[in-house]
Amino acid sequence: MAALQVVGTAFFLAVGLFVGCEGFGSGAPAGACTTIQPGHVDATNNSVSLSAQTSTSPYSIQAGATSYQAGGTVTVQIMGPVFRGFLLQARRPGMTTPVGTFSNAPNNTKTTTCTTADSSMTHDNTEAKENITLTWTAPSPGVGNVQFVATVAQDHDTYWMNLASAEIAGGVAIKATCYVIVFSLISTAYSMLA
Ligand SMILES: *[C@@H]1O[C@H](CO)[C@@H](O)[C@H](O)[C@H]1NC(C)=O
Ligand SMILES: *[C@@H]1O[C@H](CO)[C@@H](O)[C@H](O)[C@H]1NC(C)=O
Ligand SMILES: *[C@@H]1O[C@H](CO)[C@@H](O)[C@H](O)[C@H]1NC(C)=O
Repeated sequence: MAALQVVGTAFFLAVGLFVGCEGFGSGAPAGACTTIQPGHVDATNNSVSLSAQTSTSPYSIQAGATSYQAGGTVTVQIMGPVFRGFLLQARRPGMTTPVGTFSNAPNNTKTTTCTTADSSMTHDNTEAKENITLTWTAPSPGVGNVQFVATVAQDHDTYWMNLASAEIAGGVAIKATCYVIVFSLISTAYSMLA
């Protein structure tokens, strides 16, 4: 009787943890700063919505690594000709909520709050910027693949949206550990039945 209870408990624990593993890193609420489309006002302060350029972007977003460690840092560069404004975030592919934080803002840039503090980088003024390097700190625990997504404004009226870096992998170590625990719990349950 006691043995059966132990088996039952171990089984439910395993199922619970399995669901926990699968739920890991999923489900983000849509927050502010999702479209990263610049806002403009005309001479009489009416807001105008200028369209993004549809031509091939002269800018590219280059991640400094192909993977990240939970809580570790990764650099990211905005490469191309001189630009004035930008907004850049790390996101999980297909998601709009930023993950992680930025620090060490280069001259003429600053961290900003989109959903969470310091989750985005933007311009601090309209001084010329070129090939800037930004520093991202990954969340801990990790959240799986992420990519850097940016809008870059060459000047007041000319900008490209949704420029994305290659995906960088990370955060799987925690998930693997989670499965090891589930596996050992199921093994324990089986050995008690035998
Ligand atoms: C537009 O707004 C700015 C700041 O809010 C203000 O200083 C300026 O006078 C306004 N211009 C007009 C034409 O209303
Ligand atoms: C950044 O700004 C500081 C102070 O204005 C200046 O001393 C420094 O040289 C600048 N760094 C770069 C890389 O332009
Ligand atoms: C920025 O990088 C491009 C190549 O991607 C290079 O042609 C250009 O000279 C660089 N500019 C500066 C200021 O380093």
